[in-house]
This record gives sequence, C-alpha cells and structure tokens, in this order.
Amino acid sequence: MSTPLVIRDRNTMRNLILTNQTMGRRIGFVPTMGSLHAGHTSLVDRAMAECDDVVTSIFVNPSQFGPQEDFERYPRDFDADFNLLAQHDVRWIFAPDVHEMYPPGDSTRIEISGPAEPYEGQLRPGHFSGVATIVFRLLQSTPANTVYFGAKDWQQVLVVRQMVRDLGLDVEVMTCPIVRDKDGLALSSRNAYLSESERTRAQTIYAALQQAEENWCRGLAIDKIELKVRDMLSAREIRIDYADIVHDESLRKISEVSRNTPAIFLIACHVGSTRLIDNILLPSQT
Ligand code: PAJ
Repeated sequence: MSTPLVIRDRNTMRNLILTNQTMGRRIGFVPTMGSLHAGHTSLVDRAMAECDDVVTSIFVNPSQFGPQEDFERYPRDFDADFNLLAQHDVRWIFAPDVHEMYPPGDSTRIEISGPAEPYEGQLRPGHFSGVATIVFRLLQSTPANTVYFGAKDWQQVLVVRQMVRDLGLDVEVMTCPIVRDKDGLALSSRNAYLSESERTRAQTIYAALQQAEENWCRGLAIDKIELKVRDMLSAREIRIDYADIVHDESLRKISEVSRNTPAIFLIACHVGSTRLIDNILLPSQT
C-alpha cells in the first residue's frame, strides 16, 4: 500500500516520467476512464510486475462518446478509485480536467482507417477517433515505456497498435486477458447500469461465448456457431449489434477453409438500455 501522487497537468506529469526514466526506471502506464474494478487493477498488477513504477490515468474522455451516449452519466468516483490504486501501489495518478486535455479552441483529431472501420467503428461513428486522439495525448503526457490495455476492448487494442506503428510512437503495447465476475460477465464500469434481473440475463453473453468456443473446437460450421449464439441471446431478450467470428487482427469474416487462422468471436449487444461488448479467442485449428 502506498499513497499515489495525483497530477492534474500535462507538463508536470511528463517531466516526472522523463526524470524517472533518466534515473533508469521503467514506467508502465494504464489509461482508464475511472470507476475502477478488478479488470483495471489486473492491468495495474501486470504493469507493476513488469515495470519499476506505474502511472494510471483517470479521464472520462468526451470525444469518444457519441451525442446520444452516456458521457454525462458515466460513473465517476475519484475517491474510490484513488483508494483502489493505492492498494495496488500505483505511484502516480494522472487526472487532468477536460480543458487540460482539450484546450479551448482545440481542433486536432487523429483519424484511423483499417481496424477502426468495422464493428464499433461503424456503429459508433467518431468513437475510435476520440480514443486514438486521447490515447495519443495521454502518451505525450505520460511517455511510459509500456502501456497496458485489456483484451475486453479487442478492437480498441488493434486501433491503438495501428496508431503506435503508423506514428512510430516509442512505447510497447501490452494486451491483458479479460477479467470476469464469478458468473462469467466481463467486468465493465457500465455493468453498474444493469438492474438485478438484467444482470442475470447478461450472464448469457459469456455462456454463449463458451458454447461457441466448444462448437468451434468440435468443428461445427461457422454460420451455425454464430446462429446458436444469436438464438441464445435473443431467447433472453438481448438485442444484438453483432455476433461474428472474425480473424483476430484483420477483423474480416473467417471462411470455413481458413479455420487455421487465429480467430475471435466478437459480441456487442444491449441488455435493457445498457450496451455491452465481450469476446472470446478461438484456438486455431490445423
Ligand atoms: P476503460 O473502459 O476505463 O478501460 C480501461 C482499460 O481497462 C482498457 O484497456 C480496457 O480494455 C481495460 N478493461 C476494462 N474492463 C476489463 C476487463 N473486464 N478485463 C480486462 N481489462 C479490462 O478503455 C477505456 O477506458 C478508454 O477507451 C481509454 C483507453 C482509457 C481511452 O479513453
């Protein structure tokens, strides 16, 4: 347990990181939007294990929310986040306000094609531009050696990796496994929106993904696997945005003949008015 130092401005943050790196320390960075749970702290713990110091950012980034989305009501609890990060020995918390990250008159955005186009990119126009813009700016303020992301937001990881490659950013990107609740539901700050009965229905998402993995390993046809998942979700009145087996990097649909490529089952769906995403990696079959 240690008391993290809270930093609110970009220059102070950047200078602290650079000074510590000059002293030979490796810095790990975990960007978040707060409302922290064990999924976030799993990234912190991994960073802690691999680096000398860990910095976590807490910033609910307005530019990645659509006009009809939940920016205003997104859960915020700085004190709880602070205490959790203290328990996990985070050294610095970077918690800028909106004007620090988007100065008045700001008009610069990063646009990414390729992995940012399908799925979330199509359904949430501007979302990945907002994510890429803030991740870039956060990395400018927190020039860490390694930055940690969760596999839960699979497409986000692909988008960030694309940006890091294209812009030649000097940071290593690590992807950490999805942390789930006892009932299988992937931890998410948005789970707080679910009523008790919605929460029970939401368990079906992981159950469906597990069934898909079994069926994939048994060699069932891809469209049948997808159909079974859709049926399972629909039976619990879960509205599906997509439920597809795709190549894990190109995000293109996999055909029967290319089952030996690494694949992933991606789901986005609505339980009541809450939108949830989840995925499961499918072992390649030789
Ligand atoms: P946020 O949703 O707070 O997530 C922060 C990080 O925690 C992301 O890398 C996300 O994938 C990871 N994460 C969330 N739930 C997880 C779980 N159940 N298991 C493992 N990792 C999990 O993602 C964002 O914030 C924002 O888009 C951000 C990158 C901070 C840019 O604003």
